Amino acid sequence: MGHGDSILRAVEEGQKRNIDNVEFIVANIQEELPAGTYDAITSSQTLSIVKNRRDVLKRIFGALSPTGVFLSVEAFRTAKESASYIDDATACGLALQSFEFVPHNHLGEEKAYSFFEFRHGDKGLSVDLDAKFQELIEKLAASNLQLAKTLIRADKIKSGRKRLRDVVGDYAETAAAKEAEEFLKGL
Ligand SMILES: C[S@@+](CC[C@H](N)C(=O)[O-])C[C@H]1O[C@@H](n2cnc3c(N)ncnc32)[C@H](O)[C@@H]1O
Repeated sequence: MGHGDSILRAVEEGQKRNIDNVEFIVANIQEELPAGTYDAITSSQTLSIVKNRRDVLKRIFGALSPTGVFLSVEAFRTAKESASYIDDATACGLALQSFEFVPHNHLGEEKAYSFFEFRHGDKGLSVDLDAKFQELIEKLAASNLQLAKTLIRADKIKSGRKRLRDVVGDYAETAAAKEAEEFLKGL
């Protein structure tokens, strides 16, 4: 599906819902942003892949009203990548207001993206990303444990065990992984 098709679908959806105050355009964020000042700017899995990220963040800072918010959900999977993104945004005048790892299941695979809220400012929130990442891992290990139990109950014991073993192998130091290990031993 090309960009033209996406815009066409977006316009159709808008019409179906009687939304007539939205304009959809295709533009290269590495070149320029649409003219104007915005109360809210969002990025979904895009700032994580563009080249010259700082240039784009500077442009976002410039297009955001002084009280506006920049919400960004990005496909970073480590604390380090998220920390580097926060550094880049801070260098461009965007101060971190809140941060969460958002776990979700994509086509059966456990993933987690990073969700950032930025506003104009010099000094943002300081977050312990490593601690957040550990929390996330525990959550994921716990959700995989549930999945393994479900698979085992549904007689798909081999795949359930494999899945659980992968989680235990990757996240051996967490409480949830230890619980998973005990569960495996008891089978
Ligand atoms: C991983 S997809 C995410 C798509 C969608 N935003 C979502 O969350 O499902 C990355 C998107 O970034 C867009 N993209 C990459 N570089 C871009 C650029 N320089 N300017 C505008 N969009 C860009 C791609 O066209 C693609 O749609």
